[in-house]
Amino acid sequence: MIVEIEGIPLHLAHPDELPVTWVGQEEVMRQLLAAWLVIDAQDLPMNPRLLGKPGVGKTTLAYAAGKRLGRDVYILQATVDTRPEDLLVTPVIEGAAKLRYVASPLVTAMLRGGVVILDEGNRMSEKSWASLAPLLDNRRYVESIVAGIKIKAHPLFRLVATMNDDASTFDLPEYIHSRLQPQIMIDFPERHEEMAILRENLPFGEDQVLDYVTEFLQQAHMADERYTVRDGVNIARFAMKLANGNSLTLNHDLMRVAILQTLGEEALRYAPGR
Ligand SMILES: Nc1ncnc2c1ncn2[C@@H]1O[C@H](COP(=O)(O)OP(=O)(O)OP(=O)(O)O)[C@@H](O)[C@H]1O
Ligand SMILES: [Mg+2]
Repeated sequence: MIVEIEGIPLHLAHPDELPVTWVGQEEVMRQLLAAWLVIDAQDLPMNPRLLGKPGVGKTTLAYAAGKRLGRDVYILQATVDTRPEDLLVTPVIEGAAKLRYVASPLVTAMLRGGVVILDEGNRMSEKSWASLAPLLDNRRYVESIVAGIKIKAHPLFRLVATMNDDASTFDLPEYIHSRLQPQIMIDFPERHEEMAILRENLPFGEDQVLDYVTEFLQQAHMADERYTVRDGVNIARFAMKLANGNSLTLNHDLMRVAILQTLGEEALRYAPGR
């Protein structure tokens, strides 16, 4: 699809289609949707940032929230190498002396009234964030230097950034932090929620296996380990593969092998006893 802005044709990105359902933890979902709400003609949506350990469900929540609004969702995976033009418009050579301008997922969402997830935004440099400053305040536009155009956001456009607290990240400057509000913290789920999330991700999983992994995760959470439900899904999945799809009738040895090979030796201390 091509849209023309100030005489420049822009080739748009495709929305992301993921088979994702958000399970439990309704409070963070409610907060995210509230941040996006517009309550008056003078009001503006906010640009929330989702924080939490790797694998707690930040991307999943952001995606599921966009889908609950019935919008197309575009994921822009940020890295240390993400340049300002990667966020906005990139020129691609198309034949001799001809350029094609390609809109990023973010700009596509801006034009189509979609939702953009700036995934792992804290990996991105300040320079790249700076190009988004006018978008994140009441101006709601970006300027593409490369294409020489100003692009205004559709009123339905919504943005959410996800960030985790690992080491390979930049500290964002204050003027960016203040534009990425509110901050929504995703914590470990309760036991019954964790079981339901495992069930959602492994619908074919045996109860005994999922119970075991839930118990393991809850023990680890109590010790404030970084293990998340993503690790739990991997442990359960690997254990079931090791059993070649046969009933495990809770083979503790297999479960321990799966824990060891997913998370390493230290994780075994949280393995439920026989
Ligand atoms: N509440 C939930 N409902 C359904 N699935 C969930 C939930 N929480 C986590 N998951 C599952 O856990 C896995 C990890 O989630 P996700 O990728 O969203 O984590 P993340 O916080 O974005 O991780 P990272 O920081 O590494 O990007 C996914 O497989 C996802 O389906
Ligand atoms: Mg993620």
